[in-house]
Amino acid sequence: MAATRRIGILTAGGDSPGLNAAIRGIGKAAIGHHGMEIVGFRDGFRGLVEDRRMRLGSNRLAGILTVGGTILGTSRDKPHRMPVDGEVLDMTEAVVRTYERNGLDALVCIGGGGTQRNALRLARAGLDIVTLPKTIDNDLACTDATIGFATALEIATEAIDRLHSTAHSHHRIIMAEVMGHGAGWLALAAGLAGGADVILIPEIPYEVESVAAAIRRRSRRGTNFSIVAVAEGARERADAEAYRAAEARRAAAATAEEKERARADLAALEAAHLGNTLRLARRLEELTGLESRVSILGYVQRGGTPSAVDRLLATRLGTAAADLIRDRRFGVMVAARADATEPVPLEQVAGKRKTVSPDHAWVAAARYVGTCLGD
Ligand code: F6P
Repeated sequence: MAATRRIGILTAGGDSPGLNAAIRGIGKAAIGHHGMEIVGFRDGFRGLVEDRRMRLGSNRLAGILTVGGTILGTSRDKPHRMPVDGEVLDMTEAVVRTYERNGLDALVCIGGGGTQRNALRLARAGLDIVTLPKTIDNDLACTDATIGFATALEIATEAIDRLHSTAHSHHRIIMAEVMGHGAGWLALAAGLAGGADVILIPEIPYEVESVAAAIRRRSRRGTNFSIVAVAEGARERADAEAYRAAEARRAAAATAEEKERARADLAALEAAHLGNTLRLARRLEELTGLESRVSILGYVQRGGTPSAVDRLLATRLGTAAADLIRDRRFGVMVAARADATEPVPLEQVAGKRKTVSPDHAWVAAARYVGTCLGD
């Protein structure tokens, strides 16, 4: 069996704190312990298509453990549907050519759900791939943790802590909009840790009247302020049903036209959802008589130095990836399993989102401490 000598690395999808720690973990183990060489590709899969490289020697890996973002850059471009000169093209062949031209023996793709799907496609095109799980949304299947979630949780929790005192002083409702379109892990965890009075997540569709009733109950008890932690993707029950129906139509589409129509319906529903938190704040103001304000936490949650928990996670997953490559275990994601790591076949990860189950322990804990979940 030929030894693995040259590894490519890329980061794809939304950035998150801990990506550089992961690059460093892979690189230090691969170069220092397994005698391999590392080449970085810039801006996700686009860099691979365009063969834009960065040599990742030991010097380049020093001093990046605590640095936010990714030294490689990132993008959401997909190899099989890439905008090129005004057209959307399948660039898989170009990726294979870059891989061969650079004499790569393996490629590490660090990313979230989209990246895992793209990586599986490339594995099927013949590339030797290992992936690492990264997303502040924590919504990847088959892993206990994803790189970036712990840091984003600290940031969102601190924001909710700070909103408490100003909401209290002004007797207001303050909505903290937390990232998470398809999964509510971050809003739920930050809401619980920050003691939000209401937590709204995509997995539990809400009724505005239930939220207003919970806030009015607090007012009657003499507490005339409330903090609402709301995930970007939280929806009212009727909207959630329309969204689910469109998703089901897309999944069941038998022809390209049907798929395109379902995609367009979903895009229209997404567009209508924009500004939902602001509209919800206005309706709660009307229904409760309390002034309402909105803080959209946005990209602050993805920026800055990774927490100790994320540095540790990224380092253990990154170094484990180098071991798997040495052992030529390809077509897998390095999953976190308690204190250990485990290779999971990409087929089991790709296309499967880990959402909050309604009977998850965090949901139960939220209900026990009297948090309204809007249902
Ligand atoms: O990283 C995941 C995520 O943070 C989602 O929660 C969020 O909705 C999305 O990325 C926004 O990403 P962008 O605007 O960078 O595409």
